[in-house]
Amino acid sequence: MSFFNEEIDRRDTHCEKWDKYKGEDVIPAWVADMDFKAPLPVIEALGKRVEHGIFGYTAMDDETYEAVINFIKRHHNWEIQKEWIVWMNGVIPGINLACKTLKDNEEVITNTPIYPNFVRATKNTNKNLTQVPMREINGRWSIDFDEFENKITPTCKLFLLCNPYNPGGTVFTKEELLKIGKICKKHDVLICSDEIHADLVINPNAKHIPIASLNDDLKNRTFTLMAPSKTFNIAGLQSSFAIIPNRRLRTDFRKKLRGMGDDINLLAITATKAAYKDSDTWLKELKLYLAQNLRLVEDFVKKNKKLKMLTCDATYLAWIDCSNLKVQDPYEFFLKYGIGLSEGGRFGDNDFTRLNFATTKKNLKEILKRMQKAIDSL
Ligand SMILES: Cc1ncc(COP(=O)(O)O)c(C=O)c1O
Repeated sequence: MSFFNEEIDRRDTHCEKWDKYKGEDVIPAWVADMDFKAPLPVIEALGKRVEHGIFGYTAMDDETYEAVINFIKRHHNWEIQKEWIVWMNGVIPGINLACKTLKDNEEVITNTPIYPNFVRATKNTNKNLTQVPMREINGRWSIDFDEFENKITPTCKLFLLCNPYNPGGTVFTKEELLKIGKICKKHDVLICSDEIHADLVINPNAKHIPIASLNDDLKNRTFTLMAPSKTFNIAGLQSSFAIIPNRRLRTDFRKKLRGMGDDINLLAITATKAAYKDSDTWLKELKLYLAQNLRLVEDFVKKNKKLKMLTCDATYLAWIDCSNLKVQDPYEFFLKYGIGLSEGGRFGDNDFTRLNFATTKKNLKEILKRMQKAIDSL
């Protein structure tokens, strides 16, 4: 039996995903975590550390830095230096901090629909946000580069990039990333590249490229945000980091973070080290399982002509166009049939819904069965 077929009851474990619908016959398929156990090396390392029984003030060690550096080299062919790493207890703080490094009148640009905390971060930091809609080009969610460039104003100084793209699952190609770099250089725009889904490229023909790894200019204008949290299903442990090669940007970013949670906790360190050092096999198997689950979702969408979904090369999130169902609110519509999807409106498009397919095949099949029942009722 596949490790990932194990059914685990997550209710009453402080689990945001399942407890949202406590006591209701609703299968959750919303927030981006997985219904799978973390890799065994992570569980064992945590168990051993908990057994030690003393949880005092904690210091980061070189071995954890090495684990991060080696993992990024091994998986993304990017050589980073220890000094470039800034630990944080989440990628969301990183998005907010990047916005905070701007001057008062400076503005932000991003592509929409987008992971809601991008928009929230600009609100938190009182920054004007320009939204450039993602477009369907050759069956995948893509950036219209003319529109992107035209919308950059002289005060626009930060581009929030989500690569791989949540919600649409695009993995940007080298050519696309270089185009972004060229435009940002021309208009003197910094880049905050949220690469939290970098390790979850499930199409074997796609490859994640950290934008900052492409050339010196991009290296110097980019805050890259990464984490083991999505990859190894340890979001509750809150381990993340920014990679900022440019000393001036890094110092500024660090200054904003100082005294406000500028380290990660003991169990986060323990899990991060074990995940990055010893869990490659688990990750490889996870991606195969997710690819199979994606196929189930794609087949379901194909069968239902009123649904539409573009190519999803990464993440475990399916961004489904429900506009042809002609229902008022796709989230509410499917909820009545016992499925708790993500509301498209939160990402910027009410006609869509987002399905998290990182669950057992058995559970996913039940989700799709219920969705089918909902559609058949129309
Ligand atoms: C693109 C993206 N960035 C950030 C996060 C959350 O990051 P964190 O939990 O580390 O703050 C998510 C979670 O879904 C995400 O999809």
